[in-house]
Amino acid sequence: MRLKWATGVAFATGVFADTLSFLPLQLSATPRDRVKSQLASYPDVLLYGDTYAALRVLQDSYYEAWVGTWPSAIDWTAAVIGTHVTGALQSLSEGLELIRAKTEASEYWNKENTISRYFTQLVGFYFGQDAFSLRNQAFDDMLWVVLGWLDTIRFIKSHDTSHSFSISRAPGPIKSAPGAPRNESWHGSLWSPAFAHRARIFWELSETGWDTKLCGGGMNWNPRLLPYKNAITNELFIAASINMYLHFPGDTNMAPFKINFDPESPAPPGITEWPPHDPKYLKAATDGYKWLTSSNMTNDAGLYTDGFHISGYPNAGNNNTKCDQRDEMVYTYNQGVLLTGQLGLFRVTGDLSYLSDGHALIQAVIRATGYDLEADRPFEKLSRRRLPRWYGLGRAGILEDACDAKGTCSQDGQTFKGIWMHHFTAFCAPLEPLPSNIPAAASSTATSSFSFQHIKTSHAAACQRYVGWLYHNAMAARGTRDSEGKFGMWWTVGLFNLTAMSLPISPDAVPHTPNATDYRNDGVPNNAVWMPQTSVPLPPVKDATDDQHHMTERERRAANAKRGADEAARRDPNTRGRGRTVETQGGGLAVLRALWEVSKQELV
Ligand SMILES: *[C@@H]1O[C@H](CO)[C@@H](O)[C@H](O)[C@H]1NC(C)=O
Ligand SMILES: *[C@@H]1O[C@H](CO)[C@@H](O)[C@H](O)[C@H]1NC(C)=O
Ligand SMILES: *[C@@H]1O[C@H](CO)[C@@H](O)[C@H](O)[C@H]1NC(C)=O
Ligand SMILES: *[C@@H]1O[C@H](CO)[C@@H](O)[C@H](O)[C@H]1NC(C)=O
Ligand SMILES: *[C@@H]1O[C@H](CO)[C@@H](O)[C@H](O)[C@H]1NC(C)=O
Repeated sequence: MRLKWATGVAFATGVFADTLSFLPLQLSATPRDRVKSQLASYPDVLLYGDTYAALRVLQDSYYEAWVGTWPSAIDWTAAVIGTHVTGALQSLSEGLELIRAKTEASEYWNKENTISRYFTQLVGFYFGQDAFSLRNQAFDDMLWVVLGWLDTIRFIKSHDTSHSFSISRAPGPIKSAPGAPRNESWHGSLWSPAFAHRARIFWELSETGWDTKLCGGGMNWNPRLLPYKNAITNELFIAASINMYLHFPGDTNMAPFKINFDPESPAPPGITEWPPHDPKYLKAATDGYKWLTSSNMTNDAGLYTDGFHISGYPNAGNNNTKCDQRDEMVYTYNQGVLLTGQLGLFRVTGDLSYLSDGHALIQAVIRATGYDLEADRPFEKLSRRRLPRWYGLGRAGILEDACDAKGTCSQDGQTFKGIWMHHFTAFCAPLEPLPSNIPAAASSTATSSFSFQHIKTSHAAACQRYVGWLYHNAMAARGTRDSEGKFGMWWTVGLFNLTAMSLPISPDAVPHTPNATDYRNDGVPNNAVWMPQTSVPLPPVKDATDDQHHMTERERRAANAKRGADEAARRDPNTRGRGRTVETQGGGLAVLRALWEVSKQELV
């Protein structure tokens, strides 16, 4: 039997019976009183206030209107920060909708002013973004740009639709004056074509990174280094491609190849048209997913390792084209970006395996923070005298990158946890059926006879099981705020009252994993695995990672020495290394917003 739901996606007869049965880990769906009481002790007004304050501090402390960017960010981290601002605006816009029903028009106007205030900063960033530099960077750098502007386009559309802004609602004689503008869309929609154009250009640039000569497919990371097919570039390509398929509104702007200012002479047909919902984006996403999931990139804990080199590649006469040299480094963001791809692929194909894979990945992450999802608490009892043990992506139930405890995070490393939270939030948003104007792709492996409503309910129930863990992480992150409301990078220490005690941090706070290269924090090693080794000096290459400061061994030793000597650093480990930055603030905003978005589904 095959059933169709609203989108026309067909499912074959199901093998799943019970509400939560497509979850990889069977969890009881009983109400979690402890989580309920935790949330009750942190009411949504407080959570909303904290989230808003995180956004305000981010923009007031780090954004500069005159250059239209966060000057201390590097190109790719700025693209991510822009995405966090868009996410916060989406949450505010929906919150505004709830408030509108209850409040006076003037209050409503205040809220709208808040949205516009931050939205103009995003518009400024469209011009402040160094698009020229980014065009020459690695493929992952480009893809953050695509994801960011697509999110902004979605926000504009949703804010515009839910508010039906219209001059006809304006008071006074203006609305009836002849020639007066009427029923105008929200002003933000003026910018959608520009954002769409940039998203398309960067998607097309990144697409050239797809390569079938090596490893049977996959995106290469950086054309200036030895071939490296890594998780992030491939996850970004999947997520950006499916979001192009779903949300790119089309583009007619021929720049930079031709700028056609003359409306009387339209550009030749066939070249001007970049239509929405182009099947090539869907194909890119499904091909990318197939390659990634068959690449053997996940480790025994179910987590994505960083990527593959090709052994022997630089050697003369080498015939190997296989991805066979895996770098075992595990980063938080490599477990996150794929979630956006999985959600989009599920929406378009109806194939439940995408949702199931996503939940498996989330649950592997939660386990690797040292959290028992079934019991809804950390594996260990926490002691204030001892740093809890490392579980692979954290400890004490809190998400961590390996650099956090060591205080050695680069700008890259400081950005990772916020990225995870952003994509987790996107994955756990209430499922919406595919709009009827978007062609669905029936998946050959779609295996469910469940109604859309049933899947939606199951997915939401699964996401609710993560709220206790999310609350635990949000509280920890919140505990790292300093007197100016700035978040630190190492959320775990926010669990402890650090004004009252010093947490001992031993040098082996994070055990070393064999064959793991922390190149994102320590810099790309100049060795025969990573870099072309030539006798002729290579011309200097521009790469986003060049612009940031990686800690040298000497600086790291100095930072460690400071930790022992400096009272402030001992009490607040988040002052070590790069300290509090625009990137760590983005992470704080992202985790609070995640709790807001996922927990409100239960509260409303
Ligand atoms: C503006 O929108 C309202 C409500 O949809 C509609 O009744 C009205 O005719 C529109 N006015 C113009 C000038 O389009
Ligand atoms: C997957 O990768 C691991 C680690 O490199 C390796 O031990 C294993 O043999 C690989 N499996 C396959 C099927 O290639
Ligand atoms: C590569 O292939 C060629 C031709 O088949 C062969 O002569 C050569 O020995 C191979 N090289 C290695 C390193 O296996
Ligand atoms: C480390 O990598 C080398 C080369 O790829 C491999 O031979 C070795 O088995 C790896 N060791 C571990 C512990 O994965
Ligand atoms: C943290 O410790 C300080 C100093 O002992 C104390 O005044 C404060 O109440 C403690 N805060 C919490 C939340 O326990």
